[in-house]
Amino acid sequence: MRILGIETSCDDTGAAIYDSQEGLVVNRLASQVEIHNRYGGVVPELAARDHIRKLLPLIEHLIQDPDNQGRGVDAVAYTAGPGLAGALLVGASVATGLAYAWNVPALPIHHMEGHLLAPMLEETSPEFPFVALLVSGGHTQLVDVEAAGTYRIMGQTRDDAAGEAFDKTAKLLGLGYPGGPQIAACAREGREDRFVFPRPMTRQPGLEFSFSGLKTQVLATTQKQSRLDSQTIADIALAFELAVVDTLTIKCMRALEMSGRKRLIVSGGVGANERLRERLRSECKKSGVEVFYPRMEFCTDNGAMIAYAGYFRWELEMKQSQNFGHHGGFDVKPRWSLEDLNQ
Ligand code: KG4
Ligand code: ZN
Repeated sequence: MRILGIETSCDDTGAAIYDSQEGLVVNRLASQVEIHNRYGGVVPELAARDHIRKLLPLIEHLIQDPDNQGRGVDAVAYTAGPGLAGALLVGASVATGLAYAWNVPALPIHHMEGHLLAPMLEETSPEFPFVALLVSGGHTQLVDVEAAGTYRIMGQTRDDAAGEAFDKTAKLLGLGYPGGPQIAACAREGREDRFVFPRPMTRQPGLEFSFSGLKTQVLATTQKQSRLDSQTIADIALAFELAVVDTLTIKCMRALEMSGRKRLIVSGGVGANERLRERLRSECKKSGVEVFYPRMEFCTDNGAMIAYAGYFRWELEMKQSQNFGHHGGFDVKPRWSLEDLNQ
């Protein structure tokens, strides 16, 4: 089975073809960083308009790519939510239009399930059950995944997502958008002993997160400085990154202990953070837990994870309902919980 996957939930236009025999065939991405950078964050209307411009040419190139040689697909999967309504609508309408024209099913996919399944695209991929840490620009969740498609959210953020905290802090420090990679790069020059920020909600039991206080701490710290030179900015960036990495690590290890799972997967844009990857790798090693990551480019938004999730959902849902993917209009869900997918 060959699936075209389309991702347009936020500021990346992604498309890919996954084949159940060959694996990932082709993958392409058009980033909108240039467009949003000068506003310091994603402008939803500009995002939707750029998806309209980029998506069809991207798919045309994908189909004609030498690795695909013009071959057709058996289904079209698209991100139906959660995400920005206008951006989602572009992917959903193009996907259902193509599926109708090609007379194949159109499969609505949950963006976070896409992230959660992204490690399955790697050579060594996890088996069920596992705990998933999903850390993106819009979500911070610990999910207990007992079996394929069975999700229990163990804890999530009460306010800002981890990626959002990186983006807002970067903006405060005068670094560009998206903030995660900018802070990580700047923090490499930082000195560890100069500032220390709290590890929010780690002292109380449970698996909830709260990151909005951290940016206030960063703001207060910057205001106290007589001069905000580049060394001070790097020192603050490092202290912030360490606080987030530490907080996420503490909660991951707690979730593993509470669930008794021996596998952890980490995905979503913040999963590309090297300090986080290293830290979790070493903590998991100590506890005898296997940890799995997608390659860096599949941590952030991409079409490959949606194509794979399309295949996964097709296999799962066709056993339950012959109607899955049938034509009859489409819907997008800007807000949508992973737990709604449980059968
Ligand atoms: O998964 P993603 O591409 O889009 C959403 O679904 O939100 O995640 C984007 C988020 C942004 O907030 C970005 O700042 C963050 O992931 N991010 C990082 C890194 N790369 C991207 N955060 C920390 N370190 C990174 N290296
Ligand atoms: Zn995402």
